[in-house]
Amino acid sequence: MRLIIRDDTEAASFYVANYIIERIKHFNPTPTHPFVLGLPTGSSPLGVYRILVEKYKAGEISFENVVTFNMDEYIGIPRDHPQSYHTFMWQHFFSHVNIHPRNVHILNGNAPNLEAECVEYEAKIKSSGGVDLFLAGIGEDGHIAFNEPGSSLASRTRVKTLAYDTVLANSRFFNNDLDQVPKMALTVGVQTVLEAREVVVIVLGARKSLALQKCIEQGVNHMWTLSSLQLHPHPMIVCDEDATLELQVKTVKYFKSIELVARAQGFEQILPSKVRTGPSKPVPVQTILVNGDHERYVNGIESPTILAPQPTTSRLLSAATPAAEYPIRSRSVSPDIELVPDRMASRITDSAVFRGRLTPGPEAQTNGFARVNIVGA
Ligand code: GLP
Repeated sequence: MRLIIRDDTEAASFYVANYIIERIKHFNPTPTHPFVLGLPTGSSPLGVYRILVEKYKAGEISFENVVTFNMDEYIGIPRDHPQSYHTFMWQHFFSHVNIHPRNVHILNGNAPNLEAECVEYEAKIKSSGGVDLFLAGIGEDGHIAFNEPGSSLASRTRVKTLAYDTVLANSRFFNNDLDQVPKMALTVGVQTVLEAREVVVIVLGARKSLALQKCIEQGVNHMWTLSSLQLHPHPMIVCDEDATLELQVKTVKYFKSIELVARAQGFEQILPSKVRTGPSKPVPVQTILVNGDHERYVNGIESPTILAPQPTTSRLLSAATPAAEYPIRSRSVSPDIELVPDRMASRITDSAVFRGRLTPGPEAQTNGFARVNIVGA
């Protein structure tokens, strides 16, 4: 799990938008090898969409070969209702970029057979090669898409009854009138999201802080469905400072220090090649010497795409892009979080007394000190 903390909404949104842009560019999508992007609605991703549109208009990114799948849609309001997720997506994103309408997928909450609609949606995701990156927001109760508390963590796209809290939260878009808010929706399942090759979640504001705390500091729990991300191999949560209000100080410092170390090493997130470039791109055949024989390992389980930690291979996620544009301000970088090597031995006041019995540190082992003392013990 990566937790990226930025000072405010704008900086968090820039981070996410730039991250998506770098992922798409590095993926180098083509009509036969499109980048498949899962997308959310709600106020949280609004800044991300605005920046993506700006970057598209500035010629920095193309959505020509991007296929999208939205997370959810209300049941029972017309597709062109001002609060439908169809309207939201076209209004805030799709109409402003060069995406092909045929590449846009949004669940139809007015389908004559809702169950068939859900089954077909899953099939379309599969036939598109699976989602490369699912962007998500969360509800105040930690729901992801419309996977409300108590949703099965094995769930797939289906009809879902909305929790009262969600209806209440979303009533702000329906003249604060609970009666106008749809009570049911179609939503991708928790499992559908977890099957994406990468998941990035944007969490903004104090009202999401309890959900973030439950999802990061506590265990996997169906009552906070975002916590299922702990089971994903490549999850990243990007939040603002306000969203960290319920986290322990040591959790915040830990994730900030991790980011600093990663940036110093030149990467943001290490992704296996198959995740970065998608599954269908051929991986070069490797010849490996095993017991004197040459063995060929082609794209498959026996063909590791990461042979050793190679942070610099993640050029697409090099720290330069998001971090340079929105450097962490000084209040986020406290000198306290500088990593200091800490061995238990260094905490003993008179270490000479114990020297012969202590396991030497790596420094000592390389200069012969260790061997002498172990022999003498
Ligand atoms: C709805 C959507 C979710 C979204 C949530 C939060 O419930 N189905 O996908 O994450 O709203 O919305 P907001 O970002 O406006 O708080």
